[in-house]
Amino acid sequence: MKKVGNHTSFSRILLFCLAFSLSFSITSYAQDATAPAAAPAADAAAAAPAEGAGDPVKGKELFNTLCAACHKLDAKSTGPALRGVADKHDRAWIYKWVANSSAMIKAGDPAAVKLFAENNNAVMTAFPQLSTGDIDNILAYTSLPIEKPAGGAVAPVGGGASQDGGMSNNLVLGLLVLVLAVLIVMLVMVTKTLRKVAEVKGLELPETSSVSFWKAYAKNQFLVLVTVILLMLASSYFLYGYLMQVGVDKDYQPIQPIHFSHKIHAGDNGIDCKYCHSSARVSKTSGIPSLNVCMNCHKNISEFQGDKDSTYVEHSKEFYSGEIKKLYDAVGWDATAQKYTGKQKPVKWVRIHNLPDFVYFNHSQHVSVAGVECQTCHGPVETFEVMKQHAPLTMGWCINCHRETDVKVEGNDYYKKIHDELAKKYGVVKLTAANMGGTECGKCHY
Ligand code: HEC
Ligand code: HEC
Ligand code: HEC
Ligand code: HEC
Ligand code: HEC
Ligand code: HEC
Repeated sequence: MKKVGNHTSFSRILLFCLAFSLSFSITSYAQDATAPAAAPAADAAAAAPAEGAGDPVKGKELFNTLCAACHKLDAKSTGPALRGVADKHDRAWIYKWVANSSAMIKAGDPAAVKLFAENNNAVMTAFPQLSTGDIDNILAYTSLPIEKPAGGAVAPVGGGASQDGGMSNNLVLGLLVLVLAVLIVMLVMVTKTLRKVAEVKGLELPETSSVSFWKAYAKNQFLVLVTVILLMLASSYFLYGYLMQVGVDKDYQPIQPIHFSHKIHAGDNGIDCKYCHSSARVSKTSGIPSLNVCMNCHKNISEFQGDKDSTYVEHSKEFYSGEIKKLYDAVGWDATAQKYTGKQKPVKWVRIHNLPDFVYFNHSQHVSVAGVECQTCHGPVETFEVMKQHAPLTMGWCINCHRETDVKVEGNDYYKKIHDELAKKYGVVKLTAANMGGTECGKCHY
């Protein structure tokens, strides 16, 4: 009898080992399978051959410092796209053009006059300092073939990489579930056959142990009591936790119509919060910037470049560039023609922070008067890829801060007198916001 029992548990262990090794081999296989997809792009970039007389590497440097403000390789910007421009004109013409295009237009060079008219009479800077060698280098760079095999430069597809990642993850999960299901079926079948074998051999099998375990448990009153108490404690703990978070939207993080990354704007590019949320200083609300503010920069930034060796980019360049296209659709900006079409579709940002109507909160009071940093209340926004509510915004949160924060009086004549009087009244050196009435119901509730 004992022998049979041992035999089953041994086969079970074996099966488990099998399941484990199988599931591991599947995950690592899936990772291998996704890896090569990224490789060809890198290969193609590395293998891009140099063409023409100049040095494309030096040319790229010159292009980025001098020309990129108005020119892109593959898309129209202030000036036309420059890829392949060396084949469009002869060298001598280009040397002359780059040195001083206005002079050529004035002199009535037909090609120059036509170009000027085609580009809304925009004037190109003159670069008399560039040698013909420099210009050859730049032309070598603009003559490079397109790097990405997928022609990705202008592809407005959203979310390529991240969705791929999700797909393969789901696939792996599905496979694992399948393998587990098969294993369970196999296990059941194995036990059944083993039992049959035992019956045939005339061995007596022990009763399934689970039933007797529950019987024994039900008889032991002490154990039952302990369990009931534990269950009650746990449920009241969770109920309390649940009730306390009703109406508290800490970490609320809705999906916005345009994926706008504070990390990229306020963090990596160091744009001041108040450049966009300009009313925070002077009014009650902070407001979301109008799309005109975005276009101050995005007339020129139509594609996401990122940083070559950056660690911060969480989505693919195509994804980010696609999001900028959404901005263009919304304001009705035609990037090819470089003008507004007049067709607008306002962006409906989802509001994240929202106090109840019966509470009065004023940004300028906190930002300008009290000198509190945005980050004190909104968290390290410059690291948020997606915006979320950092603070609980409960009454206790407001009041605690009023109790702890000293009022800033330096350089504030308005407060000097009140401060001196109140400090005398409370017998303190430093006044907190609470001393100033920051805990009076009427200050926050109307
Ligand atoms: C201030 C903006 C500006 C800068 C900077 C600029 N360009 Fe231009 N470029 C233009 C504009 C605009 C045109 C179109 C003609 C016009 O309107 O004058 C143009 C046209 C050209 C053309 C002719 C394109 C064609 O399709 O025929 C060439 C070549 C050119 N630029 C090269 C350069 C090079 C090289 C640099 C950098 C050294 C440079 N540009 C910097 C604005 C600029
Ligand atoms: C380039 C413009 C820009 C800059 C710079 C910027 N923001 Fe924003 N901010 C936005 C836009 C657009 C939204 C609405 C979309 C969203 O919620 O992501 C927003 C949303 C927010 C929200 C949530 C608003 C709500 O609905 O409750 C907060 C809080 C915020 N920003 C704080 C900051 C802080 C703090 C900084 C500086 C570290 C900053 N922002 C810098 C454009 C900007
Ligand atoms: C002060 C300049 C500036 C302003 C204003 C600005 N951006 Fe940007 N934006 C940038 C820069 C710089 C990048 C990064 C470009 C890169 O790295 O290639 C960027 C990238 C983006 C991207 C791609 C990355 C991402 O965040 O998803 C989107 C979308 C975008 N901006 C939307 C907006 C919107 C919407 C507004 C207005 C609320 C706005 N931008 C205002 C400078 C600005
Ligand atoms: C003392 C805490 C505090 C500080 C400091 C603070 N905020 Fe706020 N912010 C809030 C609260 C609370 C709300 C919700 C207001 C409401 O619902 O009426 C909010 C809402 C916002 C909103 C949503 C739109 C609005 O006006 O309701 C934006 C955007 C915002 N803050 C940006 C900023 C920026 C940018 C700064 C820094 C210049 C800043 N905040 C500083 C507490 C603060
Ligand atoms: C980071 C700390 C901080 C938080 C959080 C904060 N406050 Fe304040 N608050 C201050 C300070 C400091 C002052 C004093 C400003 C001054 O008058 O010098 C103040 C002043 C005020 C005043 C004016 C009081 C008066 O005497 O006139 C009101 C109203 C107010 N806060 C409301 C709120 C509300 C509502 C919240 C929560 C949604 C909140 N505050 C959260 C720091 C904070
Ligand atoms: C510093 C600002 C501030 C002061 C002072 C303040 N409250 Fe509040 N109170 C709030 C905020 C913010 C909320 C909203 C909390 C939420 O939405 O979870 C709130 C909510 C409430 C609520 C609704 C219950 C709830 O939790 O939603 C009541 C009732 C209330 N306050 C009463 C008072 C009374 C009474 C006083 C005076 C002793 C007072 N408050 C002083 C900021 C304040």
